[in-house]
Amino acid sequence: MARLTVLTLMAVTAIAACGGGNSSPVAPTPPPSSADTLKAAATAVNKLVGTAVQSRLLNGQYDAVVAREFTYITAEYEMKWNVHEPSAGFFDFAAGDAIVGYALSHGQRVKGHTFIWHGATPSWVNGLSPADFRVAFERHIRTVADHYRGRIHAWDVVNEAVADDGLSLRDTVFRQKLGDSYIADAFRIARAADPGARLFYNDYGGEGLTQKANRIYDLVRELLAAGVPIDGVGLQMHISATNRPPSTSIASNLRRFADLGLTVHVSEMDVRVNGVAGSTQMRLDAQRLAYYDVVRVCVLEPRCEALTFWGFTDAHTWISGDTPLLFDAQYAPKPAYTGVLDALRGR
Ligand code: G3I
Repeated sequence: MARLTVLTLMAVTAIAACGGGNSSPVAPTPPPSSADTLKAAATAVNKLVGTAVQSRLLNGQYDAVVAREFTYITAEYEMKWNVHEPSAGFFDFAAGDAIVGYALSHGQRVKGHTFIWHGATPSWVNGLSPADFRVAFERHIRTVADHYRGRIHAWDVVNEAVADDGLSLRDTVFRQKLGDSYIADAFRIARAADPGARLFYNDYGGEGLTQKANRIYDLVRELLAAGVPIDGVGLQMHISATNRPPSTSIASNLRRFADLGLTVHVSEMDVRVNGVAGSTQMRLDAQRLAYYDVVRVCVLEPRCEALTFWGFTDAHTWISGDTPLLFDAQYAPKPAYTGVLDALRGR
């Protein structure tokens, strides 16, 4: 039933997209029944299925899809340091509270993203002395974790601390001001402020068995050995249909994190297709297969708790000029959506 419904939706969309059929507007795509959603399929295999969202978009069709399809919500940018604390000591939780409130009112869980990331640090911290930086660093994590205490399923405590070559830690302002211990310090502060939230390290480029994955593995193993309170690893999964890690490599990588006792999240998945040669249908099918393969690996790994897509509609993606997500810009499900649904259902 699920497959038939989605295929019907796709057929209607295809006709609409090609301008096929008569001149009258195509009937609006009926939403899948509750049995045909990602939410139902993921819940049936005890997985969280999520999307990144922006507070200003949570209305109309965007709201309808988020409410219908997902059980796990991440703020795409509105719960980062530069948004939460635009000036020293002044905290703005309006957007974060809107997103968290939306999620909890829809029975969804929340991934806090993210306390510490060089990509979203407010500019005012750069001029601080190391001592003042440490005060700001601790105050930020403690104040934010305390504000959302009890409402966050898991936090990305530190994001992207490993250098792309996988040989060292990234040379960020955190490392420059505080030394390598900033990572462990962040986890300890977060645990003290919200003991109920699971604490994750999150990164990209470490999904398969790469050099960077090895360095991420060594980092979290060292943190565990030092008694640092870390509960999981987020593998972002920003991949392309033409250049993606083999499923066997992803599965082995997830398993070794699981063997450390950690929970794993696929935390920011999207699949670029611009590089795929051939017809539109070939691009869509390559994308569907990429999504299917990754989701299947997570379904089969008991310690893979969650699959989050970094947005769900091509109308709102951080990847300009590509169509990396499950729904098109008109909010119609693509073959990628069917790929995720089929993988969740073990088809
Ligand atoms: O929506 C506002 C708009 O109202 C305003 O006019 C405009 C100008 O200020 O800003 C818009 O918000 C922008 C937002 O993206 C939505 O487009 C923010 O400035 C911009 O900083 C934000 O960028 C986000 C980026 O992280 C930095 O926070 C991207 O959406 C988001 O996709 C990206 O996500 C990161 C993950 O956190 C970590 N992993 C990599 C991933 C992609 O870079």
